[in-house]
Amino acid sequence: MTNKNLTQNEQKTLAGNFAIDKLIEQKRIFSGMKIGLGTGSTAMPAVERLAERIKDGTIKDICAVATSFQTTIACENFGIPVFSMNAKEIGGHLDLAIDGADEINPKKQLIKGGGAALLLEKIVAYNADNFVIVADESKDVPSIGTCFSLPVEIIAEARISVIRTLEKLGATCTLRQGVKKAGPVITDNGNLILDLLWKTVPNAAEMEDKINNIVGVVENGFFCKNIPTVFIAHSNGTVSER
Ligand code: A5P
Repeated sequence: MTNKNLTQNEQKTLAGNFAIDKLIEQKRIFSGMKIGLGTGSTAMPAVERLAERIKDGTIKDICAVATSFQTTIACENFGIPVFSMNAKEIGGHLDLAIDGADEINPKKQLIKGGGAALLLEKIVAYNADNFVIVADESKDVPSIGTCFSLPVEIIAEARISVIRTLEKLGATCTLRQGVKKAGPVITDNGNLILDLLWKTVPNAAEMEDKINNIVGVVENGFFCKNIPTVFIAHSNGTVSER
């Protein structure tokens, strides 16, 4: 099947469906497991597919942690039970987390947070035994940091001081603005988002730590520490696993 011409949205659905079915087949998704569920337009088809496989009886007794209000609401609609990371059913640790990404480089380092959900996404991803990314082929890029902006969640009171420090690290910073809401985006955690770009490709692994050392930064969208399995759907209808 290599003669299709799938749209980006069709690729997102294909990636989500394929990954869930494959992970069930590989027994990396199994009955009774604790699973982290990501945010965004590629994670959503994966959540829906998971719900279908729960409904058809393939898997049972899943305990899910949602990474955003979007995902919590989707789980409510699909009947997937959601818990806090702190709930005794979860105990701060997950068997697997599945999510989308904004960019993926050849080392499988990521930029995430295009949907402003990076904080919970990272708590979930970094506390999961297995981390899985689903994406369309546009997310597969040679380098990260100079094309898609890096989201950084910050405390509002530290906006100017954080921007000054980030500029010294070579980044240009834009305060993310709301849509159908006057003023800046307020995250699910009540914070602001800065979007950062570099002129030359930054060392993502180093920058992930450096940015988080700045007082007033809550979290940044470089994900370099739990290297994921990546499922990328292509316009020709195939899915590659890396
Ligand atoms: C949400 O904050 C993000 O990290 C998303 O996972 C990422 O932006 C990918 O989103 P899409 O699948 O909608 O492109």
